[in-house]
Amino acid sequence: MKRVGFVQTNPEFGAVESNLKRALDLASKVESDLLVFPELFNTGYLFLSREEALKLSEGLDGPTIRKLSDFASEHSTAIVAGFPERDGGKVYNSAVAIDVDGDVKGVYRKTHLFYEEKLIFDPGDTGFRVFDLAGMRVGIMICFDWIFPESARSLALSGAQVIAHPSCLVMPYAPKADPVRALENRVFIILSDRSGIEERGGKKLRYHGMSLISDPKMNILAQAPEEGEHVGIAEIDPKLAEDKRVNELNDIFLDRRPEFYVKIC
Ligand code: ACM
Repeated sequence: MKRVGFVQTNPEFGAVESNLKRALDLASKVESDLLVFPELFNTGYLFLSREEALKLSEGLDGPTIRKLSDFASEHSTAIVAGFPERDGGKVYNSAVAIDVDGDVKGVYRKTHLFYEEKLIFDPGDTGFRVFDLAGMRVGIMICFDWIFPESARSLALSGAQVIAHPSCLVMPYAPKADPVRALENRVFIILSDRSGIEERGGKKLRYHGMSLISDPKMNILAQAPEEGEHVGIAEIDPKLAEDKRVNELNDIFLDRRPEFYVKIC
């Protein structure tokens, strides 16, 4: 059995050090094998320009990743966390995957950019990735990726037992949709959303919170409220995600008919 969880925070825009500290203080209250932090959890979400994102972004050797890596090894927990990633002149909406010994396994760069993210970030170029973390196969999608069922399906077909879903939800649907994604792929999903309101440069966004952990049969094992900062944990058996059978005659992977899905690609 593994203890997995979300850390729902309400970051203050640009206050990287204090956002990181509050998230890690919350994380240190629980024993876990894997924790998922929200999208762009260290900086906040509402960037007004690409220049601003470039300024607040970091590489994999930056201070945010170093502190997450130290926390992971000190607490023997894997971490998936969203952050703005700089790579040369490019800036991605990324999530880092760190194992229980602090080893940075790599990043996933958001595939489907939402609304004005298209003016700020470069489109992700990693494709959907599955990492070995804390003895689990953990795939990552970021926020708006959820609305494309191909995201969770690609991760499940690549062997993910657990999908980590860092988010800054400005639409209310994902807390209802993620358990369906879990069911149709027979995987666990950890939705880690932020909460609160961001108001900058004449723009205002309200985030939906409601972080949750769903099992492969849509049971909600833990859920946060809409407001506030919360950590939620559930004990799961990731091996349950390897059973794709619905009954003795149906298996959701073996029964697929890709010859009739050609329009998808
Ligand atoms: C979103 O993709 N952050 C809405």
